[in-house]
Amino acid sequence: MLIGVPKEIKPDEYRVALTPAGAEMLSQDGHNVVMERGAGLGSGFTDDFYAEAGVGLLDTAEEVWAQADMIMKVKEPIHQELPHMRDGQVILTYFHFAADESLTRACLEAGVVAIAYETVKLPNGELPLLTPMSEVAGRMAVQEGAKYLEKPQGGLGVLLGGVPGVLPGKVLILGGGVVGTNAAKMAAGLGSRVHIMDINLERLRYLDDVMPANVQVLFSTRYAIRKQVQDADLIIGAVLIPGAKAPRLINREDLALMRPGTVIVDVAVDQGGCVETIRPTTHQDPVYLVDEVMHYGVANMPGGVPRTSTLALTNSTLPYALALAEKGWEQACLLDSALKAGVNMVHGQVTCQGVADAFGMECHDVNDLLMGSAQV
Ligand SMILES: NC(=O)c1ccc[n+]([C@@H]2O[C@H](COP(=O)([O-])OP(=O)(O)OC[C@H]3O[C@@H](n4cnc5c(N)ncnc54)[C@H](O)[C@@H]3O)[C@@H](O)[C@H]2O)c1
Repeated sequence: MLIGVPKEIKPDEYRVALTPAGAEMLSQDGHNVVMERGAGLGSGFTDDFYAEAGVGLLDTAEEVWAQADMIMKVKEPIHQELPHMRDGQVILTYFHFAADESLTRACLEAGVVAIAYETVKLPNGELPLLTPMSEVAGRMAVQEGAKYLEKPQGGLGVLLGGVPGVLPGKVLILGGGVVGTNAAKMAAGLGSRVHIMDINLERLRYLDDVMPANVQVLFSTRYAIRKQVQDADLIIGAVLIPGAKAPRLINREDLALMRPGTVIVDVAVDQGGCVETIRPTTHQDPVYLVDEVMHYGVANMPGGVPRTSTLALTNSTLPYALALAEKGWEQACLLDSALKAGVNMVHGQVTCQGVADAFGMECHDVNDLLMGSAQV
């Protein structure tokens, strides 16, 4: 199969869909990989690395799209890219169709086979291609929070780890899933006092078993949150209700309970946030004050550390890319239910219930579309 990787062109996006190591594995499996020149530079991978890995380098994105049977990307195609798509071309990327009707209609019209990283789902419910980005965001939340707690940045002037004779800072984490657990590990490693709140008692029991002694777990209620925010130095929003807007856990009037200079990093901002006063911000302009409380609302945190994020993403996507390249999308999906769940549309037909519901479209059973391949 011929696999194409264009350079990401969405503003502030420095990740790339394939590392040189990933490209080498695809080449060694007998596939051809073509990439747009400079596609890896934002993540620190020069064209020479890719050339050594057997990649054919092309001058324009247009050539990559025109040649490839399967396109690998990071972000959804944006308007300059839409005319390049063609019928039957497999596109593997984060699409988030339900949030973008015009993208959905453009991809349906083009007739592509759209496999969305965010809906690839293991039988146990895990989303293996979202997990690495949640891991990055959770770990980064503490790093960013620690920075904005510094006085010159507008924060409380608290060192999260404290020093001998001075209490460490308190980090309150709302949600003990992937983001929350990774944030807790980092905060605990710095020596802070960490409190994780969740509504899932099983999860709290698990975290209580595995976390170090400076991490405490608490059942999440509005009452308990109002108490906890009063002496928290850093508050991290890390909740998720799958398929829904993030639940509102901190209201505007709660800010008055906090000390001036308290920092809130609401990682859940991409789902609307769990803090009433949060709004999406960018890496260029990440923070703002409301009632003297610092708010950090960057909606694409992993984009700030593209080298780590690219490596983490490729580690997770590569097994799926190898299967798709080797078997073709129909056979690969027949053999792997997780990958099948990633198929959002095929030849102009929506195959993902969430996308169909978002725009009142008919949802076709992907199994029916795969039937023809079952005998192969
Ligand atoms: N900003 C970014 O760059 C970025 C990057 C990655 C993930 N995210 C977002 O981070 C959020 C968390 O992602 P995740 O992968 O950790 O999800 P997850 O499903 O692994 O964990 C979410 C946790 O929230 C808990 N929860 C739900 N309601 C709660 C409540 N009322 N109080 C306390 N806990 C509650 C759940 O029980 C679960 O344990 C999501 O909104 C995700 O989209 C943002």
